[in-house]
Amino acid sequence: MLRVEKILFNYAERLQGTEDFPVVGWQIQSDRNHVIQKSWRLQVSEDAGFAEPVYDSQRVESAQSQHIHLREIALMPSRRYFVRVKISDNDGECSEWSQAAEFVSGLPAECWQGKFISAEEPADKVISKGTLLRNQLHLAKLEDIASVFVHASALGIYQLYCNGRKVGNDELTPGWTSYDHQLLYQTYDLTPLVKAGDNVLGASIGAGWYKGDMSFNRYRNYYGERTAFICQVVINYKDGTRQLWGTDEHWQSSYSPVLFSEIYDGEIYDARLEQPGWNMAEFDAGKWRAVSVIDADLTVLRAQGDATVQQIETIAPVSFFTTPKGERVIDFGQNLTGWVAFSVKGRAGDKVVLRHFEVLDAQGNVYLANLRSAKQRIEYTLKGAAEEHYHPRFTFQGFRYVKIESWPGEFSLSQVTAVVIHSQMRQTGEFVCSNPDLNQLHHNILWGLKGNFVDVPTDCPQRDERLGWTGDAQIFCRTASYLMQTRNFFAKWLADLRYDQTPEGAVPHVVPDILTGKSDNDLNLANGGTVAAAAWADAAVINPWTMYLMYGDRETLRQQYASMKGWVDFMRNHAVDNQWRYKLQFGDWVALDAREGSYFGATPDDLICMAYFALSTLLFAKAAKALGEEDDYQHYFALHQAIVESFQREFFTATGRLAVRTQTAHILALYFNLVPEAYRAKTVAGLMELLAEHDGHLVTGFVGTPYFCHALSENGQVDAAWQLLLKDDFPSWLYQVKAGATTIWEHWDGVKPDGTMWSPDMNSFNHYAYGAIGEWLYRAAAGINTREDEPGFKHSILRPLPGGGLEWLKARYSSVYGDICVHWQQEAQTVTLEVDIPANTRSTLILDGAQTLLDANGIAFAPMDGGYSAEVGSGHYRAIFQRENR
Ligand code: BGC
Repeated sequence: MLRVEKILFNYAERLQGTEDFPVVGWQIQSDRNHVIQKSWRLQVSEDAGFAEPVYDSQRVESAQSQHIHLREIALMPSRRYFVRVKISDNDGECSEWSQAAEFVSGLPAECWQGKFISAEEPADKVISKGTLLRNQLHLAKLEDIASVFVHASALGIYQLYCNGRKVGNDELTPGWTSYDHQLLYQTYDLTPLVKAGDNVLGASIGAGWYKGDMSFNRYRNYYGERTAFICQVVINYKDGTRQLWGTDEHWQSSYSPVLFSEIYDGEIYDARLEQPGWNMAEFDAGKWRAVSVIDADLTVLRAQGDATVQQIETIAPVSFFTTPKGERVIDFGQNLTGWVAFSVKGRAGDKVVLRHFEVLDAQGNVYLANLRSAKQRIEYTLKGAAEEHYHPRFTFQGFRYVKIESWPGEFSLSQVTAVVIHSQMRQTGEFVCSNPDLNQLHHNILWGLKGNFVDVPTDCPQRDERLGWTGDAQIFCRTASYLMQTRNFFAKWLADLRYDQTPEGAVPHVVPDILTGKSDNDLNLANGGTVAAAAWADAAVINPWTMYLMYGDRETLRQQYASMKGWVDFMRNHAVDNQWRYKLQFGDWVALDAREGSYFGATPDDLICMAYFALSTLLFAKAAKALGEEDDYQHYFALHQAIVESFQREFFTATGRLAVRTQTAHILALYFNLVPEAYRAKTVAGLMELLAEHDGHLVTGFVGTPYFCHALSENGQVDAAWQLLLKDDFPSWLYQVKAGATTIWEHWDGVKPDGTMWSPDMNSFNHYAYGAIGEWLYRAAAGINTREDEPGFKHSILRPLPGGGLEWLKARYSSVYGDICVHWQQEAQTVTLEVDIPANTRSTLILDGAQTLLDANGIAFAPMDGGYSAEVGSGHYRAIFQRENR
């Protein structure tokens, strides 16, 4: 049975707002092996029954089932579209029409008639109070109406209501972007919420990233001084006409019960100030104030159709206890990002005060010091109703524990739940094996992602930072893209990176960039030290390249092409003999071979700068090739060769020794292929020696750590890679696991073996960077990889590396084509391998280290250097082999 399943629009299953016809892809199911699509046909319709399709591709002879561009189809703004697909395969089988998938079109900037309106006065610029906005929309009768959509955005954060009900499931909209260049608007279907007669649209507004108090430098009003809201309602009538209605000077405003809200500091809410029914038609808004129309640029409005922040899951508390100091603490058992939702009873004026934090100190008391200036505090004043329910809406906290500073009456655990928020993305990775510690490590990596993919890829979610540090996002990008469908999340952020790049091509340390021009009080960052750090700025190249590899996404490559080139050219323009340097470098950040108390690892900046210059230049050359930019390819490929030669001249001795004796230097040289082939064995031996000097432990930082296991396993040291991964004493990944971590720590020595902690000035317990080892779990241990010339797992390479004494390992990666599964079991030297390969893809199956094939199940394996390999099509396969002694 041949079936078309899961139609994707711009790589998402649900797209709410797009101005261009989205890139389409679909997945295929079949009960046969070796299925290749022969032809496809696609219809687009405005009615679910496809009575009158607006587009019919007719039969297209093509194997392409992803990345299909139908840009020629012009979209009407604010409409729902249905798409269905049917295909035939290489066996002559034809599918039925797929189930219809749907998306909603957005509203291009030139169609907006709504105006930005504000409830704030100029004097409000120094405070972060909440405001409310409302207006009434009269709809004579519903029978004539086909659909009603609303497109909305804000300078600040908005929550939108229609007739008393919240519109959509999104939180913290419109999210955080480089607002002066792109301000996202969200699209919602109002059809089920409107009624005949008077309807009320109401918006509740908070300061958010737009005008709030941000960065460790603690500046406010980065983007503006007054919050504002804009929306455009589009009423589509059945006769084909449409009516527009939106924000204008006729709206009314009021302050809200939110007395204070800040991303880092939390929220103060006085329920006594609530105005029941404020967002419903019956409400008397006679005392409400007029609004001010704000003169803001509408041309920066862009549709956000996917990856909005939402409430994703809830977690019940596991215990409530009193610390030795007498503090009352709730433990949720998981370090997470979001907020506490609670219900409470009491008298009007009673207060709930909560402080959120990550860890207890060595004595078991509340530890707030590592939050630095972030207060993470919620204050709720009761109105005295029978039961009151509350959660904050304009802030979020990073926490596992909550200290109760005030609670009226008896507290019971049933009154609180933790709500986990993050950008909504499909989970694509699953990993489970016979080693429970590794499973916990995988869990911690996943929760590092959940905690830090809150609209922007942040370094951490708890202290006064939560910034889009480019280095962290670069290091973790590939791991994140195994774990979840990150394409739209990163495409959005990369657009900001592009916008915030300097005219010279330098990439800021944080994106959106709120450090440049606002860091003069910071010794390191002052005087232009906010851009162009090796490994950080390289996000400009590595992240789009990763989108291409993981999803076959040429769109993002194309969109970022000039930005990628700009960054490579920046390095070249600052280089002498291919060595470049620029103001502040972070080096091998927080490596353990740093001088006591320093954050800067021992590997010299020169080496790291040059190694990344080589890598980014090579990846850019490859990107040029993928996009058919042949001249650029030739040019940058040659530049890469020259950089490698300079690196070798500079850092290798005449006898083939790598002159910089650090683990990270060796890792980069090996992993980035900067080693003269004749010296490879010597370099590997050098790395093994450096590992032995630390009794098999790593002392690497942000730069060396992600590649350590790869540098070993790709150079004949698979066992050493496993040993490194499975170390569980200090310092190691599993040391944290053994210490009870539920997310990844910023420092190997966040909590030291003697129970003392790294200095509170920089000690996050939810920092995903070292979680970059996740890539090794999927790509090496499970062996799920893609070919670069057929990216997006169109042609996968499955080369698992059984080892580490594990009995078994199972991993699943949901590629855009469908699920790829690997399951291996090992007993002594015998390995049983089972794999699943999705329809319309092929795979190179490699049995690493196989000496004897015990059962090939009809797969035509051929011997290769160090094992066996076979080319296979889609289907389920099983092989048993005897492995050589490693
Ligand atoms: C962040 C890091 C970041 C670094 C730059 C820190 O404050 O938390 O993760 O990459 O600064 O070196």
